Amino acid sequence: MNEAPKPPVSPLPFPVPRDEPPPAPAPAHEPDGTTYPGLQVPPGPRPGMPHNAMTSDRTPYTREPLKVLAGTLPPDLHGHVYVAGPSVHAGSPALASDGLVLRLDFDGAHATFSSAIMKTPSYYAREPINAGETKRGPLTRYLQEFRDTTLSDVSIAYGAQEAPNTAPFLVEGENMLLVTTDAGRPWAIHPLTLKAYTPLGYKREWKAAVPAPWAFPLLQSTAHPAFAPEPAVPISPEKESQQKPRLFFTNHAPKWPLGDGWTQLVTWDTWENRLHHWALMDAASGKPVVTQSLHQIAVTRDYVVLLDSNFPVNFWSIAAQAALPGMTRVQRFVDRVTSEPSYPQAVFWVVKRSDLRPSPGTLSRDDPPRIPAYRFQAGGGGLHFAARYENPDDIITLVAGHSPSEDLSHTLEEGDLLINGNRAQAYQQGMPTAVPMTRSSLGVHRIDMRRLRLESRLHAHDDFTWGLTVFSNAGLINGELETNLRLYLREVPRPPTQDSSSDDVGGVKWGIPDDELAIYFNSDGFTADMVPEHLYQLYKPIVGDKAGLPIQEGRAASFFKFFVHSGRFEGYVLPTGWFGFAPQFVPSIKLPKVPYWKGYVVALVVSDPTPDLPLNSTGDEVWIFDSENIAKGPICRLGSRNFDVGMTLHTTFLPPGLGDILDGNIPEGPPYAVNVREDYNVDEIQKAYEDWLPGFFPRIPKALFAPWRMGVRWALNFPKLRKVFERDVYPHFPLRPPEKHSKNE
Ligand SMILES: [Fe+2]
Repeated sequence: MNEAPKPPVSPLPFPVPRDEPPPAPAPAHEPDGTTYPGLQVPPGPRPGMPHNAMTSDRTPYTREPLKVLAGTLPPDLHGHVYVAGPSVHAGSPALASDGLVLRLDFDGAHATFSSAIMKTPSYYAREPINAGETKRGPLTRYLQEFRDTTLSDVSIAYGAQEAPNTAPFLVEGENMLLVTTDAGRPWAIHPLTLKAYTPLGYKREWKAAVPAPWAFPLLQSTAHPAFAPEPAVPISPEKESQQKPRLFFTNHAPKWPLGDGWTQLVTWDTWENRLHHWALMDAASGKPVVTQSLHQIAVTRDYVVLLDSNFPVNFWSIAAQAALPGMTRVQRFVDRVTSEPSYPQAVFWVVKRSDLRPSPGTLSRDDPPRIPAYRFQAGGGGLHFAARYENPDDIITLVAGHSPSEDLSHTLEEGDLLINGNRAQAYQQGMPTAVPMTRSSLGVHRIDMRRLRLESRLHAHDDFTWGLTVFSNAGLINGELETNLRLYLREVPRPPTQDSSSDDVGGVKWGIPDDELAIYFNSDGFTADMVPEHLYQLYKPIVGDKAGLPIQEGRAASFFKFFVHSGRFEGYVLPTGWFGFAPQFVPSIKLPKVPYWKGYVVALVVSDPTPDLPLNSTGDEVWIFDSENIAKGPICRLGSRNFDVGMTLHTTFLPPGLGDILDGNIPEGPPYAVNVREDYNVDEIQKAYEDWLPGFFPRIPKALFAPWRMGVRWALNFPKLRKVFERDVYPHFPLRPPEKHSKNE
């Protein structure tokens, strides 16, 4: 692959030496930052959620310098941290906002950031539709307009906007960097321009969660897919063109008034570029598996594990938001009387990978083969978990964050009564009610698949496990970090290593010692100003009396490291008034001299401005921690007058020099792209609407449905919709599917 030397490609503009020498040289086998002192950071202006958490700048930036505000940038910090989140603004439900993707670049001397809004076909169509370009009058405008709901922007006539805003995810086998959402397909982005260029799969390959003929169907998939860090192999010697599944998603619908709910495990074949489906059936009862939501899944050598997450979808609340614009009191009333608490326990479903045999039948989204899923219940409700890839003796090890009273299906509304007697303020409007009311815990679970038993250890810490919400990247646990580093070591030319003890690619000894195996988290702490009274009442049976809650004193946010085997916590409590988001581990570029699990933790933080903030800080900053001593505090603070990102969600790390590899093998184009003109063919969209109602009554002559057809033509206004697609959508997606590439290429 490396027959001709290639220059390393970095999006950084200035590969120059560092500006200042570090305080003291680190031993060769330690990251440079281990010698740096921790910084004292003054508190923000008030406890609780900063206003800045709900503001973001939608301006695209390219390699905008991040200035060192305090401390020192370690010279061995190299590579790229991708961050996904919603482009939050007070007044709109945060989790349904357009995606904002960031890339932080480090070359040891400088740091920069780039940012872009995730723009999908429904994003581009929403603006002209909401501007009235397809309307015929007030009624069609009402039916067509996209409106905020807590799940997605929804148009009664056209469907739901696809807004990837949750997690960046590298598909190594496909050289694709995806950005995911719970309410839509994952979309691939160019790692350098950050522009979204294709969804994974055509609409026709995914089963919609709402059985409507929408032009923009609501598709539900997991926001955290799973990729097995193993080489691709054929499913059998006879079927060389199909690979054994190793990239997993879900395609599911909850039980709600529109249906009984169903759950499919789907896999993406990176050779065929096709989606395969399996319907999950409860191994104990034989009934279909139905879940509240499936925010995260994980894969081990022999199993796929799915977590039924505490992210319930309240159909009535979403319907009221979409159908009753401006009627906030009615919307609130509907939400209050229809909300149900999420499960108090975490429910894991385990599927055997040996049951996942691709066949012509698995290409069917509507009637795929049925396979058993094994149910295990543990801990408290949860959203995020990681699985160790190896499952010796059929024992699966999981690490999960448990927050039994966390519930992301609501948002704070101005005027809401809070549990401390205050009222929610305008700046909080749209913030998810993500703060759990009980102390959270970390669960280490061992599932014995031979005896079908689960053993759990739960770990809690008063400084660190209040408000476990967004998980850090699981790369150190599940093999993702090793996969990305192997790609780097294989593809990017580097100076020869002096290390003769190496036994694998790049001279790196793979495998993290058990004592060192850790995962990085952030916690939101506890802030009474983020907990509405109605939510407390919903969870009172779990939470108990208010007297047991730290309503007055609160708990500050934190970053911490959890050692999986010992259950030890090591961490840093943020100064009052600062909030932090998913901490991303970045290995030292000095590997293999420095073990690949040692390096830095890069995290975004927000506070509101005070006179104590450095000149170039907006209150939104990037902090760098020494991964071997988080407790000493950040060793470097970075910021810019243009850095305003607010609340963010998940991150991933890519080593330096992969830009040309991942950016679609320029100039040949990416190895996979959907033809967006075909995916959103207006003739087919029109036919789907016109045939929808007659499809329920196959014995009634079609001619009798003429009023239906006239009605949908009037309501949808297809000629105008076609113009919107031709002018505002198709030109943004010029790529055509490439010739199918084979595994030998
Ligand atoms: Fe997540």
